[in-house]
Amino acid sequence: MTSGEGLRRWYRSVVDEYRRRTPGSARMFEQGGGVLPGGDTRYSITTPPHPLYFERGEGPYLWDVDGNRRLDLNNNSTALVHGHAHPEIVAAVCDRAAIGTAWGGHSPLEVEWGRMICERVPSIERVRFANSGTEANMHMLKVARAFTGRDLVLKLDGAYHGTYDGFELAAAPDGRVVPSTGGVPANLSENIVLGAWGDKEGVAALIRENADRLAAVILTPFRSAGGFAHPPEGYLETLRDVTADEGVLLLFDEVISMRLGMGGAQGRYGVTPDMTALGKLIGGGLPVGAFGGRADIMALTDPLGDMKVALAGTFNANPMTAAAGVAALRLLTPEVHDRIDRLGARLREGLATAVKDRGLPLRVEGGGSLLSVACEPEVARPDVLMTGLPLAFGNRGVFGFPYLSTSSVMEEQHVEYVLETARAVMDHLASALGDAA
Ligand SMILES: Cc1ncc(COP(=O)(O)O)c(C=O)c1O
Repeated sequence: MTSGEGLRRWYRSVVDEYRRRTPGSARMFEQGGGVLPGGDTRYSITTPPHPLYFERGEGPYLWDVDGNRRLDLNNNSTALVHGHAHPEIVAAVCDRAAIGTAWGGHSPLEVEWGRMICERVPSIERVRFANSGTEANMHMLKVARAFTGRDLVLKLDGAYHGTYDGFELAAAPDGRVVPSTGGVPANLSENIVLGAWGDKEGVAALIRENADRLAAVILTPFRSAGGFAHPPEGYLETLRDVTADEGVLLLFDEVISMRLGMGGAQGRYGVTPDMTALGKLIGGGLPVGAFGGRADIMALTDPLGDMKVALAGTFNANPMTAAAGVAALRLLTPEVHDRIDRLGARLREGLATAVKDRGLPLRVEGGGSLLSVACEPEVARPDVLMTGLPLAFGNRGVFGFPYLSTSSVMEEQHVEYVLETARAVMDHLASALGDAA
C-alpha cells in the first residue's frame, strides 16, 4: 500500500466515523444550505463533509447538536481566552443587557475599557473601538495613510489581516500583485508592496526603495498565517529601525498575538510599533475590534479637533462588548498568562513528541498559549491530511485542530486528555500510512 492510498483510506474511515457521530449537524447543514450560500457565513469554519453545529458551551467544553461533548481548543479562533460562559463575564453581560444594550451616546465603561488597553499595550496612548479585527485594521490603515499623506503599504505576502479589500492582495506565480479573492478591484494592487516573513534584509530594502511613497508597514509580529511562530531573531527590531529612519509608520496587527502577554507580542518582544490593531480576546467573547497608537497620530480621528479621518460605527464601544471586555481583561492577569502559556508549552511538547515518535509528516509550532499543526511539504495531498485531522480529533472529543489555543479554564488534566487523544489519532494515521513506529 502506498502512503497516498493509505492516506485516502484513513480519510474515508475518519469521515465515515464523523458522519456516524454527527447526523444532527449534517441535517442542520442541509437546512442551512437553503438560506445561507453553501450553508456558510464564515468560510474559515465550514469544512467537508459538513461542519459541526454547536448547542452550548461551558468552561473548556462545547456540546454539538448530537449531544457530543468536545474539549474546545479552538476557543473561537483564539478569542475565548477564558473558555465558554465564564461566570464573571456572563454576570457582566447580563447586568448590562438588563439596563440597555446600546445607545447613541457614550458610556463610562468605554473609558475604563480604553484605560485598561492603554495601560497594557506599550504602543497605545489613545485607542478607538470597532466591531471586528477586520475593521480595526481597516481604520488603522486609513489613519496611517492620512497621517503620512501617502498611499503605499507594505504587507507580508500571505498574511491575513481580515476580509478587507485593502489587504486582500497576494503575489501571483509571475510575481505580480493581484487580488486574492473575487470582488477586490485589481487597481488596489497599485497601493501594495509585498514582503516576506522573516526576510529582514529583503523587507528593509523594500522599505528604503519605496520610502517616499510608503505610508506604513503592517505585519503580525507573531506569525499567524501559515502556522503560529515567533519572529526570527532581529526581524522586528530591523523593521522598527528602518521604518523609523525612513519616516514610515510601523503597524502591528495583534488581533491574535495579544494573547502573548499583558502587552501583547510587542510587550513580550520589546519592540513598539506606531499603531496596533486588536480584536478577539479584548471583547470577552463578544464582537470586537480596536486600534490605537501614538497620541499625535490618533489625534487625526478627534471629532472636536481636526478630524482628518472621520470614523463612525453604530456599535463601536457598545456597552455589552465593553462590559464583557472589561471583565475578560480583569481576569487576564500576569499569573493567568503564565498558566495558559505553561499549558501551551506542555501541549506543544507533547504533540511534537507524538509526531516525532511516529515519524509523521507534521510540524508543531507556536508560542505562549498558541500552537498550530501544519503539514510538511513532502505530503502529496496536504488537503486530505489537513481536512481529516480535525475530524479525527473531533471523533475522539477534541475540537479545534489545526490552530489551537489554551484557555484559563483548562487544567493539566485537559492537556493530558488532548495528548492521549493525539497518540490514538496519530497511531491510526501512522498505521494507515504504512509506517507506524
Ligand atoms: C491576525 C488577524 N487579523 C485580523 C483578523 C480579523 O479579525 P475579525 O475576524 O474579527 O474581523 C484575524 C481573524 O482571524 C486575524 O487572525
